[in-house]
Amino acid sequence: MYIGIDLGTSSVKMILIDQSQNILATANSSLTVQSPQDGFSEQNPQEWINSTMECLESLKLKKPKEFLQTISIGISGHMHGATLIDKDGNVIRPCILWNDTRSHQECEEFEKQNFDVRSISGNITMPGFTAPKINWIKNNEINNFKKIFKVLLPKDYLRFVLTGEFFSEMSDASGTLWLDIKYRKWSNKLLSCSFLEEKHMPNLVEGNELTGYLKKEFKDKFNFNNNVKVVGGAGDNAAAATGMGITNKKQSFISLGTSGVFFTPTDNFLSNTGDAVHSFCHCLPDKWHLMSVMLSASNCLDWICSVTNTSIIDTLNNVTSFYNDKNSIKNSSYFLPYLSGERTPHNDPHIRGSFHSIKTTTNSTDLQYAVIEGVSFGILDGVNSILKVNNNLDNIFMVGGGSKSSFWIELLASLLNRKLSVCDQSEFSAALGVARLAMYQYEIIENKENIVSEIKINRTYEPNKDNIDLLLKRYSIWKDLYNSNNKIAQNLNF
Ligand code: XUL
Repeated sequence: MYIGIDLGTSSVKMILIDQSQNILATANSSLTVQSPQDGFSEQNPQEWINSTMECLESLKLKKPKEFLQTISIGISGHMHGATLIDKDGNVIRPCILWNDTRSHQECEEFEKQNFDVRSISGNITMPGFTAPKINWIKNNEINNFKKIFKVLLPKDYLRFVLTGEFFSEMSDASGTLWLDIKYRKWSNKLLSCSFLEEKHMPNLVEGNELTGYLKKEFKDKFNFNNNVKVVGGAGDNAAAATGMGITNKKQSFISLGTSGVFFTPTDNFLSNTGDAVHSFCHCLPDKWHLMSVMLSASNCLDWICSVTNTSIIDTLNNVTSFYNDKNSIKNSSYFLPYLSGERTPHNDPHIRGSFHSIKTTTNSTDLQYAVIEGVSFGILDGVNSILKVNNNLDNIFMVGGGSKSSFWIELLASLLNRKLSVCDQSEFSAALGVARLAMYQYEIIENKENIVSEIKINRTYEPNKDNIDLLLKRYSIWKDLYNSNNKIAQNLNF
């Protein structure tokens, strides 16, 4: 048996699978995000541990016999978060998350060097990445900066708690900006831009390699039969790709989670910093990937549901009927989904969300539709940025909470004019991906190359030819709205 832990932004999700990759049990435990100021986003790492313990208890309750036979565990997590650890292993301050944009000035400082930072890091320095967050700590919280013994990514802190070991792996380490992406090793030059050294970093492995064993206190707490191994695991997006078997450049997926992502593997290191495309290592050896990231995807839906006081289910039902009437779409308002700035393609920490073309006839369903459509336009922006570097795409999978909505996938299929595929339990793809990586540590599995195979498709969605032109016309207007709004965005916050 193998366990996959996915430390997501809004919840920890966990999966227990057997040797044939049958899903025996799943568990879920919510997390909170604190936003002490506009543009700030933080989490208390203790919540990650509490939720992980809760999910382990839940798996054990659901499948006690199988749970105790666990051989190995993989961990996935939301990327880029800066978890600072002092020399006694204590957390110094709340973790600054991937969607926190406070460090935009420090991004410039990080890149002002006598060498080309981007040619090693493969990426534009954006505030979501780990490195500028440390420069911000140095500029604003010098006492905390001085206490730093290790900087760990969220899932690597969880690993430290579970095993006592300091390790990361290539896919998540790529999002720090301290990794030499092409050569898959820490770069002393990049670390020096944040006034750090390699000793502040965990050791590096590939996602399927061993990083240690569950501590005795946890082995005893849960009564595991074996000394449970913990593998490198992956950043949440590389993990989801692994869960679906996405390892070659014809494959790709769209994730409608808190963030909105379009992901496709590459055979070597490629980059498109012009459109703020992310160029990272995949979690399996000798593989890389490209990714577009929008900061607010399904959390725009959560936001509009909360301000219109409607449940997600009711909102999706309302907009489904709305979408069936072309006239409603045509007259609908527009929404820029930038609740906390944007990465791909704009790299704009100042832009914020806005509605446009509000009329006397605009009602809450119209606004709800505009929000979902606006997020979908953001996804199309991301897909278009990636197509400039990799135009080999074939099948596109859907994952994340939003992939449970048929309406949303239908809209996206029409907008992208491509077939979209969904598999069962797609919200557990990242957990399944790292459980698959954990399987590499069971010596008696012979054909390890079959572990990460393409997952069975359960449903496919074809474009609705009638809506394509209308949606593309609206997309082009929506793009103009960003272009006029970005000029004033910085002046709105004074
Ligand atoms: C990727 C990114 C997000 C987080 C949260 O660069 O910032 O997708 O990993 O899911």
